[in-house]
Amino acid sequence: METTLIILKPDAVQRGLMGQIMTRFENKGLQIVGAKLMQISQDLAATHYEAHKERPFYPSLVKFMTSSPVMVLAIRGNNAIAVCRKMMGATFGSNAEAGTIRGDFGVSNSFNLIHGSDSAEAAERELGLFFNDGEVLSYDRAIEGWVYDMSGGQPE
Ligand code: RTP
Ligand code: MG
Repeated sequence: METTLIILKPDAVQRGLMGQIMTRFENKGLQIVGAKLMQISQDLAATHYEAHKERPFYPSLVKFMTSSPVMVLAIRGNNAIAVCRKMMGATFGSNAEAGTIRGDFGVSNSFNLIHGSDSAEAAERELGLFFNDGEVLSYDRAIEGWVYDMSGGQPE
């Protein structure tokens, strides 16, 4: 099982889309194991997006991400990192596929509603940035045996 960091960006919170986006992850069968509404500081935005520091869009990206509260989620499931990235769709809302979160809810390129970790290393790093010890939970779900085929001892 993988755990990934998802951020519902300021545009998703302001537009009242938190519930609809979280419902998509829940409907998929993924498990929400951490959640908090927070305002991202300049320092945290800079650390989170430090790989993009030299990119022309970096100043506006940091300004956007710190402009209003976000909802951060820890989401767990089999292959959760790739599954969530696929559900998010392409980076720009203008060309994200219909059926994806970015494709269905937005047309902007910069205001693209959602962030998701893009690798196991990124997920570990980002979960550590946004959640304190004890804030990402482990709990059994009664439906687990219907979300996954567990007959082989592993989720399939
Ligand atoms: P994210 O990191 O937010 O999950 O998005 P991503 O992997 O799909 O895209 P990435 O290349 O990592 O870019 C990070 C965020 O920067 C903004 N961006 N703006 N105007 C532009 O050319 C541009 N390019 C990127 C987007 O908010 C993107 O999600
Ligand atoms: Mg990225």
